[in-house]
Amino acid sequence: MKSYFISFEGPDGSGKSTVIEQVVAQIGPHLKTQYLVTREPGGSEIAEKIRQMILDPANHLMSAKTEALLYAAARSQHMAETIIPAIKQGKVIFSDRFVDSSLAYQGVGRDLGIHAVKQINDFATSGIAPDLTIFLDIKPEVGLRRIAKERAGQEDRLEQEQLAFHQKVYHGYQEVNQENKARIKVIDAEKPLAEVVSDCVKIIKTYLPQELLKDWDE
Ligand code: TMP
Repeated sequence: MKSYFISFEGPDGSGKSTVIEQVVAQIGPHLKTQYLVTREPGGSEIAEKIRQMILDPANHLMSAKTEALLYAAARSQHMAETIIPAIKQGKVIFSDRFVDSSLAYQGVGRDLGIHAVKQINDFATSGIAPDLTIFLDIKPEVGLRRIAKERAGQEDRLEQEQLAFHQKVYHGYQEVNQENKARIKVIDAEKPLAEVVSDCVKIIKTYLPQELLKDWDE
């Protein structure tokens, strides 16, 4: 059976992990194939180690290029150990972030340029891209307020960045979304959680090849 690759994107504080958990709980039982839930940076033992290095607030001297290369390195390992085997096994893949995060955060947020960051990521992924991407749209100031409330004092290195950085990232995402309209679907993530989850489920149900779904008649 053909695999299907779905990624979730959004600014920090968009509630992605909770949304993904609930979306998968609703969709999982209706999938004819096995599925995999994974995340970036991470999704394999080595990639999780790289994640710790990237997000450690002690690494405040990390250059923008090193950061971009480490995200790409983690992604390359994630591809080799997790994503490519899942594609070969015909699984449905749900990934919390993928290349679009690098384009927005490193390409625009860190001023490295979308084109340069795309090139190193094409090398890391051999050009494998999600079939569908859900962008959880939340204004950066709202996302940062949520993080400040939930994780005060425990923010990681990226979350500790100023609002101006997160605003640049948000504009970066808008550029990426604009250029990939067929693949990226935007959802208002400032709505109550249950509505955000139901909007995501509707979109996935629309785009997921029907032969991968079972027992879903409403
Ligand atoms: P998370 O909080 O969604 O787990 O992501 C960790 C942080 O890493 C988040 O601030 C977004 C950032 N990030 C990048 O800057 N570039 C990337 O390529 C990825 C995957 C994440």
